[in-house]
Amino acid sequence: MNNTRRDFFRLTAVPVAWRAFETALNAAAARSPEAADESYWQMVKRQFPLDERLIYLNAANVCPASRLVLDRHFEFLRDFHSNPSFQNRDKYVEMRETVRAKIARMLRVSAEEIAITRNTSESSNFIVEGIDLKPGDEVIITDHNHPSNNDSWKMRARREGFVVRSLPVTVPAPSVEKLVADFERAITPRTRVIAITHVTNTTGIQYPAREIASLARGRGIHVHLDGAQTFGGLDVNLRDIGCDSYAASVHKWLMGPLEAGILYVRAERIPRIWPSIVTAGWSDDLKGARKFEVFGQQDDPKIPSIDAAMDFINLIGVPAVEARMRALAKRAKLQLKNLPAVELRTNLEPELSGGVVKFRLLNIPTKRAYDLLWEKYRMAIAMTPSGDSEGLRFSPQVYNSMEEIDRAVAAVKEISG
Ligand SMILES: Cc1ncc(COP(=O)(O)O)c(C=O)c1O
Repeated sequence: MNNTRRDFFRLTAVPVAWRAFETALNAAAARSPEAADESYWQMVKRQFPLDERLIYLNAANVCPASRLVLDRHFEFLRDFHSNPSFQNRDKYVEMRETVRAKIARMLRVSAEEIAITRNTSESSNFIVEGIDLKPGDEVIITDHNHPSNNDSWKMRARREGFVVRSLPVTVPAPSVEKLVADFERAITPRTRVIAITHVTNTTGIQYPAREIASLARGRGIHVHLDGAQTFGGLDVNLRDIGCDSYAASVHKWLMGPLEAGILYVRAERIPRIWPSIVTAGWSDDLKGARKFEVFGQQDDPKIPSIDAAMDFINLIGVPAVEARMRALAKRAKLQLKNLPAVELRTNLEPELSGGVVKFRLLNIPTKRAYDLLWEKYRMAIAMTPSGDSEGLRFSPQVYNSMEEIDRAVAAVKEISG
């Protein structure tokens, strides 16, 4: 990115922190071309305001934003509130378009197909509510879809009388072929939608989205992909996957501001999805996916901070972020798998997993283990207390070190006996 472009997003003259980080990071990358040594990642880690006493392993829920993102957000928040005039807010129209284009480039789609929303839940609900369905039509989901892509379908089906078929999930996943075959078997002439999760938050299965989308193509079935656990974590190429819509949050793996999300809708599908929120600013002339952005007064200063989050991740490079995140997750999985009192519940195969690591302790109740890990070791993780995805969840991102993974697993070993 050239300086003119970047200064458009800055009110202050000297973006010292950003330049210093960029220079240092480039120098570290030059020393180690694979950008794989720990000193490089330590430099990345230092950009986050995380409490050093914490082992934060909950990217699947919320990632901290880097200082660069926070500084940009504060700067524009201050500017907004010092002068909330329409004139001072004009700049956000162009900024929004710049950010839209950057998101589109990252996902390999066109800017017209991207809406900036408030989170994955909202984006998925735009799809759930917006597709025309009639009694007798069928929607296929899985038992491990997040409620925003699961209960939302069931709720609408109760009202309108279409059928939701939920596929059971075997953990760990048996194979890509088996997952695809499950969907192939479930499709009927009445199937209108397949709504799946790219990587599940429950046990971290990566669904073969491209293969499932190709089953649906030619049958007129809309494939909706919940990308909450992949956007900003994996190098997602939506053109290659070929789904019809994709929902994600900016405050998870992308390490952006809170309450920001995206919705991709394939160009041909956009006219057929009704906007479920319509308010001031609505017009039939709205182009592309912008019709899913009309939901009242918005937090404009969030826009330049999403831009900063995109710059941050692009500076490292999305493939490098994915490789590092996978290396951290793999280290955790391999070590946990070797503990006698631990059952690893996430696949090891990269094509069947992402950054979500789920495991169960055999000798201690899950909730007790979760509390102990917080109280004794200050480990911020997630937990499912019961059911078929019961267990503890680690989800590391680039601000974690290998040493933190080792310490986290050592703590699990200590409490699991
Ligand atoms: C797979 C999945 N989908 C959707 C969501 C909802 O995300 P948000 O709360 O940002 O809308 C989550 C949250 O963890 C998730 O894991």
